[in-house]
Amino acid sequence: MENNCYPFSNLPLPYAYDALEPFIDEKTMHLHHDRHLQTYIDNLNAILKEEEQLQKFSLELLVKYADRLPQNLQAPIRNNAGGVYNHRFFFEGLTGEHGQKPEGRLAGKIRDQYGGVEDFLAEFKKAALSVFGSGYAWLIWRRCGLDIVTTPNQNCPIAQGCFPILTVDVWEHAYYLKHYNVRAAYLDDWEKVINWEMAEQRLMQILANR
Ligand SMILES: [Fe+2]
Repeated sequence: MENNCYPFSNLPLPYAYDALEPFIDEKTMHLHHDRHLQTYIDNLNAILKEEEQLQKFSLELLVKYADRLPQNLQAPIRNNAGGVYNHRFFFEGLTGEHGQKPEGRLAGKIRDQYGGVEDFLAEFKKAALSVFGSGYAWLIWRRCGLDIVTTPNQNCPIAQGCFPILTVDVWEHAYYLKHYNVRAAYLDDWEKVINWEMAEQRLMQILANR
């Protein structure tokens, strides 16, 4: 991940703001990337400006070890470093090349564990719908297999030692303009713009580093 240390800046999206249309609208992408993610970046920089010893920490380290920091820094770092990490991970997991399907190693693991991509997506969306309030659903790798987990707020599974492969942001700001309060409709549209190629790359990297 580029720009991985203080001072953090908002990397451009890896596609045009309207690349996910008609599934995720251009205005939502502008607001989500330029305002919501920007706010997490600004907040994180403001915190780290006062904490010189943390300025060399990578984004991953800040997220992973937030709970070992002094008490007064734990929640602000967990929320804001998490907000940056999770949004970058989410945006990089989408593509303007609509309708991709999982291939290669990941497709095989999904078939072995869930029966196929349709069954996997049904289970994944069920988990995403179960998030009460704001948070994320994740496909992760832990120990020796895939798993689906959810996190509240800006918590991130890397803080529990898990390796994320795919995520969906289910904060209302991710879908309210187009899908109103119908999270299920957003999830049906999100499915069309999943970057399965990126998910496969992430899995290969996880397996290579074990
Ligand atoms: Fe978000």
